[in-house]
Amino acid sequence: MSEHIFIGVAWPYANGPLHLGHIAGAYLPADIFARYHRLKGNRVLMVSGSDQHGAPITIRAEKESTTPQEVVAKYHQQFIDCWKRLGISFDLFTTTGTPNHTRVTHEIFLTLLDRGYIYKDKMLQAYCPKCQRVLPDRYLEGTCPNCGFTEARGDECEQCGKPLNPTELKDLRCVLCSTAPRFESSEHFFFRLSSCQDKLTVWTEEQAHWRHHVLSTTRKFLSEGLKDRAITRDLNWGVTVPQPGFEHKRMYVWFEAVIGYLSASKEWAELHGDDTAWKAFWQGDAKSFYFIGKDNIFFHTLIWPAMLMSYGGLNLPYDVPANEFLTIEGKKLSTSRGRAIWLHDYLERYESDPLRYALAANMPENGDSDFSWREFLRRNNNELVATYGNLAHRVLTFAYRNFDGVVPAPGELDQHSRGLLHDAEVALDSTDKLLCRCEFKESVKEAMSLAQKANRYLDEQAPWKTIKTEPGSSARSVYTVLSVLAALKTIFYPFLPFSSEKLHSYLGFDGGVEKLGWKVQFLPPGQKLREPRPLFVKLDDDIVTGEGSRLDCLNENRQIES
Ligand code: MF3
Ligand code: ZN
Repeated sequence: MSEHIFIGVAWPYANGPLHLGHIAGAYLPADIFARYHRLKGNRVLMVSGSDQHGAPITIRAEKESTTPQEVVAKYHQQFIDCWKRLGISFDLFTTTGTPNHTRVTHEIFLTLLDRGYIYKDKMLQAYCPKCQRVLPDRYLEGTCPNCGFTEARGDECEQCGKPLNPTELKDLRCVLCSTAPRFESSEHFFFRLSSCQDKLTVWTEEQAHWRHHVLSTTRKFLSEGLKDRAITRDLNWGVTVPQPGFEHKRMYVWFEAVIGYLSASKEWAELHGDDTAWKAFWQGDAKSFYFIGKDNIFFHTLIWPAMLMSYGGLNLPYDVPANEFLTIEGKKLSTSRGRAIWLHDYLERYESDPLRYALAANMPENGDSDFSWREFLRRNNNELVATYGNLAHRVLTFAYRNFDGVVPAPGELDQHSRGLLHDAEVALDSTDKLLCRCEFKESVKEAMSLAQKANRYLDEQAPWKTIKTEPGSSARSVYTVLSVLAALKTIFYPFLPFSSEKLHSYLGFDGGVEKLGWKVQFLPPGQKLREPRPLFVKLDDDIVTGEGSRLDCLNENRQIES
């Protein structure tokens, strides 16, 4: 029976390019999971979009003396371009700037207001007398009361990670002009998060299948006690507030961004000519998965579920497989210091699949992990090229040349061939179980170990030798390895979609890998092969030093700039 799988992926702020941390954190695991489920024959809806509101966008626009619209338009286009090239297969990647998103946000806001989950109250707002404007938390800077860092932001200290209120900071100042702000009282709407404390506690305790760090982070927030949260701000950039007297205020970015999951699903349904199609992914037996970085856990395991509980009738997250952080060459990634590897830069110099492979094989699933160019090179050259690619290329070219370009008839299988074919079935089965639990790193390992076994078998059987003396044995071993390749292109498809499509075609299949599905694929003797090309290219050792100095030099330039 086919299942409905909803996949929500964190909405990236459209205020700068994507880097490898974003990809390893959310986009790649989501895509692997989506492709796996499509192969399994399940119905998948994977959505996200550009988060186009909030201080990150307006600050960037001010720094570049341009408008928020222009910042958003530029990066939204760049994101879409990157998804295509990296093979991140969204069913819809929209933005929070659509009329549909505003409509859905208003509908939820008004329903929660009507039910008493949203109420009006006063709150203190920082105001800069020199700039003559209200300062959102991120426009404030001061000394962290926790660690003494002098450039802590109004909402959080970047050094020690403590979430902060502007009033807690010492030596508080406006980031634009360094003047000390004054506080004024202003009317806002609040979400009654406190009223969901008990329901959320009970619900969280039922989620034994969540990753350990996700559960423990969520429990920690719960044990500190959930407080009501202001969901509007004194701003002019954002989703409007459908209440009189709030014409000059906007929704708080996080309140509306998470609603994007629902509004994007509705937009997708409309685009597909059936306004109600989204329901199959949000109600009944459908399961929803949210792929995010660990810094977004609070909003996905507590706030969004609380909003959904209060609204009613829609499924809560089934799993939130948040990833931890990726470090670069052993050091913390920092965009403000230019210590990052930008995706669009990478894609200009290398293929997509090696990056997908390297990041998946070392995914920060249950702890931070490191990306280094040395390790990237090793994964590419030793694993993709020398193990998997070499296996495929050796046997495909041999079959193509020596068996008239078709899959040879195997005759009777011997113990070795049966053994290897059995290994392939076992690998298909074990990666299946791992993938449905979002254990990506382990699945990659299993897949590569099947390729290693097939290589050993091929070396032992040496069909290039037996072709003259025992052509039957040669045909049998070629047939066996071709069949294992048919399994490998399936198992590897979620990770290496581009290479799998090629291999699928070289093996003589038509119509795309997803069409044949997640199963042992019988390779019909006589099936016409297509002329193979190597699946992967070996990279030169030099890239390690080249990329290393590129990283340092970006780093220095940034520091001079700022
Ligand atoms: N834009 C936020 C960030 O980059 C993530 C938003 S996720 C959403 O951290 F679900 F709220 F949209
Ligand atoms: Zn100021």
